[in-house]
Amino acid sequence: MEVVRWIRVLLLVACLFPASVQCMVREYKFNVVMKNATRLCSTKPIVTVNGYFPGPTIVAREDDTVLVKVVNHVKYNVSIHWHGVRQLRTCWADGPAYITQCPIQPGQNYIYNFTLAGQRGTLWWHAHILWLRATVHGAIVILPKRGVPYPFPKPHKEVTVILSEWWKSDVEAVINEALKSGLAPNVSDAHTINGHPGPLSSCPSQGGFKLPVESGKTYMLRLINAALNEELFFKIAGHKLTVVEVDAAYVKPFNTETVLIAPGQTTNVLLSAAHATGKYLVAASPFLDTPAILVDNKTATATVHYSGTLGSTATTLTVPPPRNATPVAANFTASLRSLNSKKYPARVPLKIDHSLFFTIGLGINPCATCVNGSRVVADINNVTFVMPTISLLQAHFFKIGGVFTDDFPGNPPVTYNFTGTQPANFQTNNGTRIYRLPYNSTVQLVLQDTGMIAPENHPLHLHGFNFFEVGRGLGNFNSKKDPKKFNLVDPVERNTIGVPSGGWTAIRFRADNPGVWFMHCHLEVHTTWGLKMAFIVDNGKGPNESLLPPPSDLPKC
Ligand code: C2O
Repeated sequence: MEVVRWIRVLLLVACLFPASVQCMVREYKFNVVMKNATRLCSTKPIVTVNGYFPGPTIVAREDDTVLVKVVNHVKYNVSIHWHGVRQLRTCWADGPAYITQCPIQPGQNYIYNFTLAGQRGTLWWHAHILWLRATVHGAIVILPKRGVPYPFPKPHKEVTVILSEWWKSDVEAVINEALKSGLAPNVSDAHTINGHPGPLSSCPSQGGFKLPVESGKTYMLRLINAALNEELFFKIAGHKLTVVEVDAAYVKPFNTETVLIAPGQTTNVLLSAAHATGKYLVAASPFLDTPAILVDNKTATATVHYSGTLGSTATTLTVPPPRNATPVAANFTASLRSLNSKKYPARVPLKIDHSLFFTIGLGINPCATCVNGSRVVADINNVTFVMPTISLLQAHFFKIGGVFTDDFPGNPPVTYNFTGTQPANFQTNNGTRIYRLPYNSTVQLVLQDTGMIAPENHPLHLHGFNFFEVGRGLGNFNSKKDPKKFNLVDPVERNTIGVPSGGWTAIRFRADNPGVWFMHCHLEVHTTWGLKMAFIVDNGKGPNESLLPPPSDLPKC
């Protein structure tokens, strides 16, 4: 590939200059292939990267350039998203299908080329089309620059722990069936920890993930929630965990028994192996405090195994919180604060240019062929987002008309008691509408859950940015009173935020990254139903504030 060779030559030349001695190019090849996998004692073919579930880990350092050649050997269209990577000026490498690129068609390939500028911590990658991310996902480990320590004692070892969901049937069949009927898709058959339901599952003979530890040593677990539709609690029997980072941003360390992690989120925790010996159960179980909504209530398990412990030793068990343990979830969320040190300041926007209020929830639209004559949909400000047939980014860059309109509403069409009595009309409007932002403008966005059908937690993910969560609360957001309580000093910085069931959250960010940036609920079922929209950030002045031109191998629709 001519282009790649040139990129490589340029980067190697750049690396010769002393100021950039640390920069490196990391190259990966992702072959998207089918692979037979056995889980819950039955075997089925799944879509994987290089035959692995979870897929390979990308390891790089802050400021490194990453080149990933993705080759599609399966029958589905494919695209890969590097969740949480800011993609400064490289929106073309972001990955959501029909938002920043046309998908990679069967037999085709595409090289994702991006730099991890100013980022360090745990992120992850996943397929961003259909429901393929159920099995097509893996970790991105970004180490600090050489010689730069963590702002906490260096752990003895680091371990990636990916939480996920497993369906006995083909996931594409699951969602297609749901779309045909207009009803909710089947919940998963198991949760997994590093690919396995674990020793306490319906197929214990398959074993599960085992973490060997030595007494007295500290381990850093890089937790990733790659599940499609479930927020999860994570716990280890007999051990407290120290949270040090979320979504690749350091936090003020705090101790907890239980971690809450929503789909899309990552959390680094320190585990000190304080016992002399023994085996301890690791548990991942669902959090969903809306009784009306079905959940896969199975707990995935794994084992922490102290060196020198006999195989016959009984495992110390733990009881996971019940699925509706709202106080456990709220307590965890309330403990998160940006580190906000001299080296890692929290740059919270204080002056706001665009103040937006988005209601998020479900709706019901007519559907003649569906089971009840209607289908469940989802919306933001009553707009159910319709995917275009070429990417929004191409339409934006090449000024192709008729693909989208830039009139996404900054407020809901009607104000009602969002979390209280239900409005008479559940119907939503379809549209491919985006919200346009000038370069470097500042945004405050209040995300308000609604009680439409049922209130529910929604983990909202914004591509291309980190944002600060300046406030959250239950009920309806009060624009007079609530801002007075905002934390503008050390609010948590992240890329995916859980909007509380029947409540709201307020986030702030600076639009300093030109391109088209997707925002959606990271519960895949809600994304499918239309709980998504996009921001366009226009170019600023000069090349450093402008989107790069598309790479020559950008896939065609
Ligand atoms: Cu991790 Cu648009 O997603």
